[in-house]
Amino acid sequence: MSRATPAQVSVERCPGGPILVRGADVVRDAGGTEHEVTRPVVAVCACGMSGRAPWCDGTHKVVAAKGAG
Ligand code: FES
Repeated sequence: MSRATPAQVSVERCPGGPILVRGADVVRDAGGTEHEVTRPVVAVCACGMSGRAPWCDGTHKVVAAKGAG
């Protein structure tokens, strides 16, 4: 399998939510573990609360709601 070159990958931070990664073949977490990417776009958790890390599972919405109340 060939990996995407950096020029083919884009990263976008969603305010209060995940980081959208487009065009990547692999996402490497803070511990150095590589996670294969099988979709054109993946949402990487930026809040640290996901139960499916490194992927966003929507928990950031619950965290934000509790913080607002
Ligand atoms: S950003 Fe969505 S669960 Fe962390």
